[in-house]
Amino acid sequence: MSLELSVVVLAAGMGTRMKSALPKVMHKVAGKPMVNHVIDTAAKLNAGKTMVVVGPDMPKLVETVAPHPTFEQTDRLGTAHAVLAAREALAGLSGNVLVLYADSPLFTAETLERLVAAREAGDHAVAVLGFRPEDPTGYGRLVTDATSGELLAIVEDKECDADQRAINFCNSGVMCFRAEDMLATLEAIDNANAKGEYYLTDAVAVARENGHRCVAVEVDEEETLGVNSRAQLSVAEAIMQDRLRKAAMDDGATLIDPASVFLCADTKLGRDVIVEPNVVFGPGVTVGDNVVIKAFSHLESCVVGDAADIGPYARLRPGAEIGAGAKVGNFVEIKKAVVEDGAKVNHLSYIGDARVGAKANIGAGTITCNYDGYRKQHTDIGAGAFIGSNSALVAPVEIGDGAIVGAGSTITGKVAADALTLTRAERIEKAGWAAKFREKMRALTGKK
Ligand code: UD1
Ligand code: MG
Repeated sequence: MSLELSVVVLAAGMGTRMKSALPKVMHKVAGKPMVNHVIDTAAKLNAGKTMVVVGPDMPKLVETVAPHPTFEQTDRLGTAHAVLAAREALAGLSGNVLVLYADSPLFTAETLERLVAAREAGDHAVAVLGFRPEDPTGYGRLVTDATSGELLAIVEDKECDADQRAINFCNSGVMCFRAEDMLATLEAIDNANAKGEYYLTDAVAVARENGHRCVAVEVDEEETLGVNSRAQLSVAEAIMQDRLRKAAMDDGATLIDPASVFLCADTKLGRDVIVEPNVVFGPGVTVGDNVVIKAFSHLESCVVGDAADIGPYARLRPGAEIGAGAKVGNFVEIKKAVVEDGAKVNHLSYIGDARVGAKANIGAGTITCNYDGYRKQHTDIGAGAFIGSNSALVAPVEIGDGAIVGAGSTITGKVAADALTLTRAERIEKAGWAAKFREKMRALTGKK
């Protein structure tokens, strides 16, 4: 593959079977919209220009694919008509133009590269990615020459005669065109067929009529999955999760029970990370080397430093930055807070809008009271500070390095470094009071 490559992504369908207010291709697989999977896969092939064909009134989709240019297909008159929505941008291109469906997020860069290479190899006008499903019903059939294997035509299901209908080599929808004559070919396609649509697949017959050659390349059926319903979305998700888990393990992470770990397309796990069962990674998570993430933890948009120890049942929310060797234990929620190297937040805490200094120790049940109903305020805990259990730190609050907060305190304002601070009502003790109380109550109620 050496020539220029441009990409047209078809994303005009609303996807009525999804029963959604959101355009179909914006539904996510592994935390990323399907359309972005397709764009990102093409980007791995060093695609120059990527154009997205959208339907009318899809401003969110236009935003999602930015900065790639979008072209609106106002009437849905077929796949060739959809590609021609980008007519202006297609004029003057050279090399290859790859057409991809935005609702088919599972094609790999290797597969697309194979298709482009095959298109270039014989200077074919069109190269088509084909697959062999058990039941070819509904797909365009790839008619090939028995001896040369050359692709002669694509015949849509509705147009097939009995012989053609028996062919099980089918069009996946992915096609690669020779850029120089692509426009002329597409402009020559008409809509004289059963559906009255401009079929992109007719490009093969048109090219051959003009003396050009076409080729088909085979791909595994799994990659060709198109998503039309929520059920198919869940199938795509399962396949993608499987791939991501395998990739994480190939890169040196241990997933004790891979099937119960959910990853995002952008999850980054370091070497010798151990992930226990039932862990969910939302978007934007980066985990360093030698980290252990214990069972039932949930992480999103956060960074975990080397050798940190997370969970079980830890919740790292957006903006959590956990330092090297730090410990975030069970039922601890961290949001927009830096927990510096070696600090410990071991049990039952909420730490939000805060800094926890290096090697500080946060006692069980400590809460940063960061919100007064109007503003979020900051809590700063110095290095080596010790916060006694069940303390409420009412922000804004600043605990100096090495200071100690007595258990059960409610603290606001500034605490000097190395000071002890506590707020606690004076203890009272009444000798024998409890025994007398019980005696009195038994007499009064008759209960033992
Ligand atoms: C198409 C192919 C068929 C192939 C099958 C694979 C054609 C004529 N047929 O058939 O050979 O086996 O996909 O799934 O190309 N779209 C638009 N605008 C339109 C029409 C379609 O953007 O006017 C988009 C759809 O949103 C979809 C894709 O193009 O993402 C394919 O359209 P669809 O109607 O599903 O085509 P099929 O009949 O499935
Ligand atoms: Mg379809």
